[in-house]
Amino acid sequence: MERKTVRTGIVGAGFAARFHYEALKRVRCVDVDVAGVYAIDADMAKTYGAERGVKVYGSLESLIDDVDVVHAVVPPVAHEEIAVAALERDTFAIVEKPLTGYFGDGSKGFNGRTFPKEKMLEKALASIDRMIAAEKKSRGCICYAENWVYAPAIQKEREIIEKTAAQILWIHGEEAHSGSHAATYGFWKFSGGGSLIGKGCHPLTAALYLKRVEGRARGGAPIKPKSVTSRCHALTNLEAFQDQGHLRSDYTDIEDFSMIHVTFDDGTIATIFASEIIMGGIHNWLEVAANNHRTICNINPNTGMCTYNPVDAQFKDIYVVEKTGTKQGWSNPAPDEDHFTGYPHEMEAFYRTIAFGDPVEGNSGLAGDTISAIYSAYVSDERGGAEVAVKTY
Ligand SMILES: NC(=O)c1ccc[n+]([C@@H]2O[C@H](COP(=O)([O-])OP(=O)(O)OC[C@H]3O[C@@H](n4cnc5c(N)ncnc54)[C@H](O)[C@@H]3O)[C@@H](O)[C@H]2O)c1
Repeated sequence: MERKTVRTGIVGAGFAARFHYEALKRVRCVDVDVAGVYAIDADMAKTYGAERGVKVYGSLESLIDDVDVVHAVVPPVAHEEIAVAALERDTFAIVEKPLTGYFGDGSKGFNGRTFPKEKMLEKALASIDRMIAAEKKSRGCICYAENWVYAPAIQKEREIIEKTAAQILWIHGEEAHSGSHAATYGFWKFSGGGSLIGKGCHPLTAALYLKRVEGRARGGAPIKPKSVTSRCHALTNLEAFQDQGHLRSDYTDIEDFSMIHVTFDDGTIATIFASEIIMGGIHNWLEVAANNHRTICNINPNTGMCTYNPVDAQFKDIYVVEKTGTKQGWSNPAPDEDHFTGYPHEMEAFYRTIAFGDPVEGNSGLAGDTISAIYSAYVSDERGGAEVAVKTY
């Protein structure tokens, strides 16, 4: 049988565009032909294209017209525009997390911390609706690039749930580190919020995914979130904060700590923490307390490798693990960080969907539930932690 080739376009030329390209090199089910890149920042696109020997396109439309799929690896504020443009031309859209959100009213004085959260929720839901409506009319679809869904530890837990008919009673998890370095992070108008959306979306989507799996595995409907309660804080902005230089602390109008407690439609629960105040490297984990087993998914770090380094300087050219403050002493180097975070796995799955029509696990419904739960959580926080209902997709 002739091997299929998928023509690919990359939109965005920053951090995520780089790891998407690396993951594309590991796709096995088809030949991936990267047609080129388009980014608003022409210099970034030029450098990205030159480093990889791919064409630089002058407009989004000209790129879409040349390809079967586009990767939306741009800040969240532009996800809807790019996905809809692709879907309208019957092109698949791989969309980075978070799917979409609310990014302000365009006014100069917009402040994410004080802006009414019900209005944000309404607008974020409208954005999801527009994306799903475009998908329904398209021959392409949205592949939601939430790598936690595809991370090997989460997929192993899926197998355990499916084969043992487990009932999950409580999921708890966290994504945290000592502060995102992207210049646009810290402004609600670019990122649609702070820790809760930027980091919390990862473990939250994994939790929502596993409860969907559980419902399906026991022959019923996917189990979905019913309500949330949440608290968000801007700890490094407190007047009382004693800054000793180890944490980023210049966020403009976002939270740097969040907790979201989800109640599902079967009465079971999940609690997710996300923050910018955790030192010692990225801290990404998810624990499942079920009626018949308990699992801890250590996404990053994990103990696949442990190294003791007595002199920081001798590791200066060695990548150890994301966001460690020092390489001295004991560490858990990631021998293949991309593998454990699920980047190659999500790409393989998406290209199977594009080429062979396989169903998408990270689909627009799951992505929509995540955004809906997150903005309902912002409403809850505004009300001092009151319970708020969640619309699901
Ligand atoms: N899954 C993960 O682990 C992970 C990690 C990092 C970032 N991300 C996500 O990837 C996305 C991109 O983040 P990043 O860190 O690569 O950002 P970045 O700032 O490094 O790069 C963004 C790129 O997008 C381009 N861009 C901005 N607006 C555009 C538009 N309207 N049209 C075309 N190009 C545009 C910029 O020119 C730039 O090249 C975000 O949604 C982020 O949440 C995911």
